[in-house]
Amino acid sequence: MTAVSPAPAEATAHTSRWPMTPELAALPKVEMHIHLDGTLEPAMKLALARRNGVTIAQSSEEEIRDSFVFHDLPTFLAVHYSNMDVLWTSLDYEELCYAYLSTAASQGVRHAEMFFDPQLHTSRGVPFDDIVRGYRRAIVRARSDFGVTAELIMCFLRDYGADHAMTTLMSALRYRDWIIGVGLDSDELRHPPAEYAAVFGRARREGFQITMHCDVDQVDSTEHIRQAIEDLGTQRIDHGLNVMESDALVELARTRRIGFTVCPLPYSTHPTRGLPELEVIRGMLDAGLLVSVGSDDPPYFGGYLGDNLQFMAEVGGFTLQELWLTQVHAVDIAWVSARRRQELLEELAGYARDHALDPSAAE
Ligand code: HPA
Ligand code: ZN
Repeated sequence: MTAVSPAPAEATAHTSRWPMTPELAALPKVEMHIHLDGTLEPAMKLALARRNGVTIAQSSEEEIRDSFVFHDLPTFLAVHYSNMDVLWTSLDYEELCYAYLSTAASQGVRHAEMFFDPQLHTSRGVPFDDIVRGYRRAIVRARSDFGVTAELIMCFLRDYGADHAMTTLMSALRYRDWIIGVGLDSDELRHPPAEYAAVFGRARREGFQITMHCDVDQVDSTEHIRQAIEDLGTQRIDHGLNVMESDALVELARTRRIGFTVCPLPYSTHPTRGLPELEVIRGMLDAGLLVSVGSDDPPYFGGYLGDNLQFMAEVGGFTLQELWLTQVHAVDIAWVSARRRQELLEELAGYARDHALDPSAAE
């Protein structure tokens, strides 16, 4: 592996299948469910493979895009993880994160809380520090270049087990100021939240905020949601649509003000799914749950946050009022300073005034 320039183009132009209307483009947005590792666009994969001297199976962007074939969570993860081999240097991570923030800012994102999975890289020999320092440099640059604020949430891969997660948590302690929270992702089969109780207990004592994935329609989905809330004290659930299968869980989530981060476009790519997800999301909003929207892994699922919101409007008939409310919810559940929360809420209040929305809907 050699580490020579030229640098890849930093921001990959994103051609959207769901171009936003001007009024949606103007909506100030907050992204709460994005995996930095999952933002690797084909053009950047190609450029990084060349720069780092990594042999890959494809020789064009089109071939890379054509390799994005999957039908459920495990097959998606296999495709996504196989693309990680091109990421090696701190600069690679910086460019990956800067490219995401640049695209997000171009769609009106004002604040993003971004997952990253260090175990995908430390397990290949990449130093933990190189990953975190690269991401941090991108966050600082993007704030000054685009005015977007961003935070890092470190996710544990649930298929690596609790010991590996605890070791990873220990590596993160010295970056306590740069990593705002911890989460749990990857393959959920036979990996309930309870397996990670000690890791999350320690994380909480160390001052990290807590979230975790409860993917849609997994084996024991509702039990995983219950464990995450009741036993592990999670503050948010990433996805979590199956909450709607239990009135008791809905009540629990509402009274504890649990935030949900849902990802509409990704659900639409799982043909085996029986539930009409957009209707479930509307049901969650109507039930008074704090529902925010994210894009998960944009190159694989057809778009960034703006695309997801436009998809909700066009296919699900969500009104501007409802989409605005999801952004207010995102600010509510964001792990930001009181001052930044106020700034974001003021931007959204200004938008409501300009677009004749009812601000009391958020109370
Ligand atoms: N679920 C679990 N793991 C993941 C996801 C997801 O949606 N995206 C990237 N890793
Ligand atoms: Zn996710």
